[in-house]
Amino acid sequence: MKSNDFLGIESPAYVLDEASLIRNLEKIAALRDRAGVQIILAFKAFALWHSFETISKYLNGATASSLGEARLCFEEMKSPAHTYAPAYIPREFPEIMKYSSHITFNSLSQFEKYKGTVLNHPFKISMGLRVNPEYSEVETDLYNPTALGSRLGVDKAQLKDGLPEFIEGIHFHALCENDSYTLEKTLSELERHFGHLLRDAKWVNMGGGHLITKDDYDVDHAVKLLRDFKEKYEVDIILEPGSAVAWRTGHLLTTVLDVIENHGVKTAVLDISFTCHQPDTLEMPYRPVILDAEDSNEGEFAYRLGGVSCLAGDRVEAYSFKEELQPGSLVVFEDMMHYTMVKTNMFNGVSHPSYAIRKVDGSLEVLRRFGYEDFKGRMG
Ligand SMILES: Cc1ncc(COP(=O)(O)O)c(C=O)c1O
Repeated sequence: MKSNDFLGIESPAYVLDEASLIRNLEKIAALRDRAGVQIILAFKAFALWHSFETISKYLNGATASSLGEARLCFEEMKSPAHTYAPAYIPREFPEIMKYSSHITFNSLSQFEKYKGTVLNHPFKISMGLRVNPEYSEVETDLYNPTALGSRLGVDKAQLKDGLPEFIEGIHFHALCENDSYTLEKTLSELERHFGHLLRDAKWVNMGGGHLITKDDYDVDHAVKLLRDFKEKYEVDIILEPGSAVAWRTGHLLTTVLDVIENHGVKTAVLDISFTCHQPDTLEMPYRPVILDAEDSNEGEFAYRLGGVSCLAGDRVEAYSFKEELQPGSLVVFEDMMHYTMVKTNMFNGVSHPSYAIRKVDGSLEVLRRFGYEDFKGRMG
């Protein structure tokens, strides 16, 4: 997509490319069919519900991490959710049950607290337990759920005597933008710590982090791995990727408001905020790809990029552009669909980028604009 593809959409805007989304969904659905597993979308990564009609043609539902996501799944995907949260809020639990086909508990105490309510619910809900396989290749602590002492998932020592009665599923989440070889190593750790439980389970949910849509993902290897596991333990397998679905499916379109120089450092101030609209650029930290720019502070047109909030750290290190940046220049961040829109906030009351979609036929549609009422509504 070239910069001029965006003409006609007012900056700032997240722009979803429908054709890229469909390409990803086709690849994921093909793996699902060959491996004989179920694949659902993790809303925590991507929840632009305007695209659910398209997504539902390929994937069978979603995983929810809160009442809000479970309800969104039920209402907008027309499917009950697979729900998991580190702990459930008592006043929300009855409604969560209404919207869920599967509920996974993060601890034995949460399971004990809610199992009676679930068993008495008029519709069957399958209960699962999240375990900690104590293996992950994620290097950033912020994104590693398997560290010793982690609050996420039951420790093996607590399950020595087998799976508690009424628990039908085992859930783990240990991957982050990984391939099937990492999954293979994680599964052998899962078997080492929890192998005695697997034959008693009806289903195993292998969480997210499977970057199925990355070019070099070895689909044949994944298919064999999943089929072998399924046959060995006679379980249904569920994968719940988020990033893989929205991987490289859209952009954040921004505009330079000002160019400032201080002690020889040139900063282009944009009409977005990194802390509000691309938090991973500060948290990971992660360097997004920018259209027509290089990740370098060399060259005549190298600029730091600054956000429009007053947070001192709301900026990223320099990129080298092909041309001089001036007020009005377009800066297009690539691959901005996952873990962006779902995480935004309105710190400083800064304007929220609108949402747009570039349809398969090339037409552009603005789905949602944000304004003062959105900010005010959050403040009271
Ligand atoms: C329990 C669980 N499932 C699924 C996901 C989705 O992971 P990803 O978007 O990396 O595929 C996450 C991400 O944090 C998660 O915590």
